[in-house]
Amino acid sequence: MENVRLEIQAPLARVTLDRPAKLNALNAQTIQELSQAFAQLRDDDAVRAIILTGAGDKAFAAGADIGELARLEPIAGRDYGLRGQALFRAIELFPKPVIAAINGYALGGGLELALACTFRLASESARLGQPEVKLGIIPSYGGSQRLPRLIGPGRALEMLLTGEPLTAAEALACGLVNHVLPAAELLPKAEAVARKIAANAPLAIRLCLEAVRRGMETNTEEALTLEASLFALLCTSEDMKEGTRAFLEKRAPAFQGR
Ligand code: COA
Repeated sequence: MENVRLEIQAPLARVTLDRPAKLNALNAQTIQELSQAFAQLRDDDAVRAIILTGAGDKAFAAGADIGELARLEPIAGRDYGLRGQALFRAIELFPKPVIAAINGYALGGGLELALACTFRLASESARLGQPEVKLGIIPSYGGSQRLPRLIGPGRALEMLLTGEPLTAAEALACGLVNHVLPAAELLPKAEAVARKIAANAPLAIRLCLEAVRRGMETNTEEALTLEASLFALLCTSEDMKEGTRAFLEKRAPAFQGR
């Protein structure tokens, strides 16, 4: 892969958008390589949490590649949107947590990618925005849908209609990111959070992600039924027996992911 770096140190994996000369702008090749990286991570049982970040000290990703965008015809434009949407949806529904460590600009497709992640951390220098209307377009990788669901329609519409980015502090205040850190502490903090998650029962993490993601897309009645069903499924797991037994025996659990 040329534009994406994948490093696995089980139980964690780090995916780095690696095209710093273009501020990690997401061109077609990067989208294809990201798809490849996440397909590999899905199949690797030793990986329990993923950190997604950008190379260099300026950008997580400064958006879709505007050079490519400028050449799009209608049918190609639709395919372009659908391909990116498919990858971002796969990340949103990924069976393992994907933590975005936003180390600079997260604009356009870059913010949309971060929005598809499980949650987000940012460095103090991060700037997060959806500037598409400045280019005569709207978001096409889910930004017009995920942003209002995450921070509410009023704040999202202000971002979407002005195209102006938020500072890291503003993003923290509206819940767009969970933590803001000095640049040098961003990845260590992301790793610390990822390790805490990776120490918990893997099936429980997977089904908890599913309960929240799927549940938030349906009504409360169905969501609660889903929660009960997923809970019941976990009652059949060896990890549930191990986790409860370990608590009662006052020892640390040894989860197997079964
Ligand atoms: N697509 C393609 N190339 C991009 C890019 C993008 N989204 N964002 C930045 N780049 C390229 C620049 O063209 C430049 O390339 P060059 O050195 O070959 O000319 C390089 O990355 C560095 O960017 P530059 O604009 O010189 O950096 P800056 O620090 O002056 O400004 C930004 C940083 C993020 C404010 C500015 O690059 C920008 O506005 N980018 C576009 C953001 C955007 O609209 N994204 C949404 C796309 S839908």
